[in-house]
Amino acid sequence: MEKHIQTFLNKVSYLEIIVATFTLLLVFLFQTPPETCIDPTHNPYHKPHPRSSCDAAAHRPITTITKKNRRLWSTHTWRKSVDSFSSIFHDLQTLKHISNHTHALIVSAGGGQAVMSLKEIGLHDITGVELVDSPPLVSRADPHNLPFFDGVFNLGFSAYLDQGLFPWRYVRELERTVMVGGVVVVCVEECGNGEMNEVLKLFKKSEFSQARNVTLMGSKMTMVITKRIKVRS
Ligand SMILES: *[C@@H]1O[C@H](CO)[C@@H](O)[C@H](O)[C@H]1NC(C)=O
Ligand SMILES: *[C@@H]1O[C@H](CO)[C@@H](O)[C@H](O)[C@H]1NC(C)=O
Repeated sequence: MEKHIQTFLNKVSYLEIIVATFTLLLVFLFQTPPETCIDPTHNPYHKPHPRSSCDAAAHRPITTITKKNRRLWSTHTWRKSVDSFSSIFHDLQTLKHISNHTHALIVSAGGGQAVMSLKEIGLHDITGVELVDSPPLVSRADPHNLPFFDGVFNLGFSAYLDQGLFPWRYVRELERTVMVGGVVVVCVEECGNGEMNEVLKLFKKSEFSQARNVTLMGSKMTMVITKRIKVRS
């Protein structure tokens, strides 16, 4: 066989291996239960979830999760993003928007970097949600339809409002779940007053408190702090 044909065939078989691996991975992923699965005993405010699908998740081997997390949490990238969140949470602490007793909600929490950062600062009641769960730091929930009752958090935080499919619904849910007197904080791409006012228009039950230009994981962002107020419905 000619050499270049042999090389081509080798490439094809590599491709097959890659495709097969991905297929296996997908099959594995779709075996996990489809419903949002937050342990209802963990937080009394969570709305109840269908029992059956959560039972399935309980059988996921804990040891695998622990091992995977230990590896992830020891990486440089992970540490850098946790520290990056810590610097902005320190700001919020200095501004007296958070204390150790703050009941915090992080929406679009990713792998849980912000959750870990708040834990390290000293908060003990933190809920992180994301479309894909990352136990034990982050549960699965849709930011547009949060599985929590009204007014149960003191702080609602998201650094990824920009990525929400429906920003007004995203903000509405943050406002709904934060109690009157609490704060809703969002970080958006760094902007001036005009654009910030556009962001503020999404808020229907909060008033502007402060804005700060911050650096989050290397990106310049504007952190918008709003205070949840009482509105007549
Ligand atoms: C908050 O918690 C941290 C860590 O547990 C602790 O070092 C700090 O003193 C606490 N702050 C207050 C005001 O209690
Ligand atoms: C943030 O930076 C922008 C310029 O990129 C500026 O227009 C804006 O006023 C700054 N915002 C704050 C709160 O400092």
